[in-house]
Amino acid sequence: MAIISLIEAVSVGKVLLLVVLCAMLYLVRLIVFPPSNYPKNIPTIPFYVSFLGTYTSMDQKDIFEKYIRAKAEKYGAVKIIFGSRWNILVTRPEYLAQVLKDENTFAKSGNHKKIPYAVLSDYTGDNVISAHGAIWRKYRAVITHSVQFPEKDCVLTNTEKFINLIKQDMEESQSKNLPVGDYLQRLTLANICNSMLGTDFNTLEKDKPSKLHQRLKFVKSQIFKPLYMNFPMLDTLPIPERVKTREEVRKFREYLSSEIKARQVDPTNTNKSAAFELYHALQRGEITEKQFTDNIVIILVAGHENPQLFFTSLLYVMAKYPEIQSKLRYETNGKSDKQLEENGYMNSILFETLRLFPPLGQIINRETSKTVALGSDIVIPKGVYVGYNNFATGRDTQYWGPTTDDFIPERWGYTQEDVFKNYKLAKASARLSAFHGGRRACLGERFALYESRVFLKAVLDNFEVCLDESWSDRLTPAGPICPFMLRINFKCLSLDHQISNI
Ligand code: HEM
Repeated sequence: MAIISLIEAVSVGKVLLLVVLCAMLYLVRLIVFPPSNYPKNIPTIPFYVSFLGTYTSMDQKDIFEKYIRAKAEKYGAVKIIFGSRWNILVTRPEYLAQVLKDENTFAKSGNHKKIPYAVLSDYTGDNVISAHGAIWRKYRAVITHSVQFPEKDCVLTNTEKFINLIKQDMEESQSKNLPVGDYLQRLTLANICNSMLGTDFNTLEKDKPSKLHQRLKFVKSQIFKPLYMNFPMLDTLPIPERVKTREEVRKFREYLSSEIKARQVDPTNTNKSAAFELYHALQRGEITEKQFTDNIVIILVAGHENPQLFFTSLLYVMAKYPEIQSKLRYETNGKSDKQLEENGYMNSILFETLRLFPPLGQIINRETSKTVALGSDIVIPKGVYVGYNNFATGRDTQYWGPTTDDFIPERWGYTQEDVFKNYKLAKASARLSAFHGGRRACLGERFALYESRVFLKAVLDNFEVCLDESWSDRLTPAGPICPFMLRINFKCLSLDHQISNI
């Protein structure tokens, strides 16, 4: 009897072991190989490439050069794993134009649908960027005008405060070398909060940390941990640190929402900002509390992070190419913000920077609603996530020529008319999609370009900038694109005599 029980126990053990082994093999199969119904006529980027940025010292350019560029240029689309899922990544402009145009087939499907269980999805929810169909149209009806035509005077005041802050901190620390990340975040936060959220969170105060800035930095540092970004499924487990982060996210959203609501009922607030419109849509019962907060959060996030990345890249190109810096300083000297808008050289620098350093280098948030042929023969089944890679498209030699990797503002033209004509053409043909395109194109583009011109001119009026020698020239290893932890050497132009001995 005992022997039979023993044999039975051993057999049950073996069966269990076999089940576990099979489950593990199945998991490995899911990660290593794309599903068998994915198109066979485009190449697969090896699964480990998606983890190189996190686990090696390679930056996004190294990874792109070594593993993606040749395949993307030859085939125009590749299969890639991202966020524990196999996706089709489109890089050829013709294919990208098709994706951007056909919103019904390549339907927006943001994190709230793709990974609803993830902490990241709790953070930004179902918002104007990620929503699809009727819900998206509802959000757009509420905010479109206020985002496209926001109050802009605050940008001039904020930029002036930013310049003073840099000067004061240089004097105080007796150093010309500054890590720019925090300063640029404070400036872009101030711009978006004042203009579109109608609320001043005092992010540019000297010696008085802004509550919003501190809380935002903390909550982001908790959410964006590489392990959970690579394997969002882990957020389904009751891991204590993630449970805590979820709670932090909830508190942050509550704080932001209540501060902004309080400002909208303040009779001294005359700014009919996007927050104002959302608040009144909430009062009229057109949107729910959650939808209000989801959209407030995304305006804060998209409205400051993307410009922050862009400003970082702009500072980098100015510092890296001193001749371009001097020429732009000369070109913009004494010009008003309105004149800057029409300055060909200034705009060509913005567009060239967006081409080489698109803040959102890779976005995968569309899901096919039916089987579809990309181009003539790449057949993608229903229910597959499709994304695009701005970094690859902006550097494709077939479209940008052999000098594609060089920073040449003149490629956009020499006159304002040519520069704008070429920019519009590049956007329409999806050769430059840093601001996306079609019906879902970025609503904040005009504002972002405006604040960038004001920022760049103010920097050049006040400083000569160069790369800090101790800084190693590399891009972010993963995620959004910009020079990684950039440090800039600021030489104060007007106060030079005061600091020349530093
Ligand atoms: C340099 C700065 C910026 C860049 C590069 C940028 C880029 C983009 C991109 C690539 C998309 C499409 C995202 C996707 O496919 O999921 C987008 C959408 C959007 N952006 Fe921006 N953005 C910038 C600044 C801003 C600013 C300042 C705002 C102000 C709130 C803003 C508001 C939006 C909105 C509302 C959408 C969604 C449009 C829709 O789907 O209807 N963006 N942006």
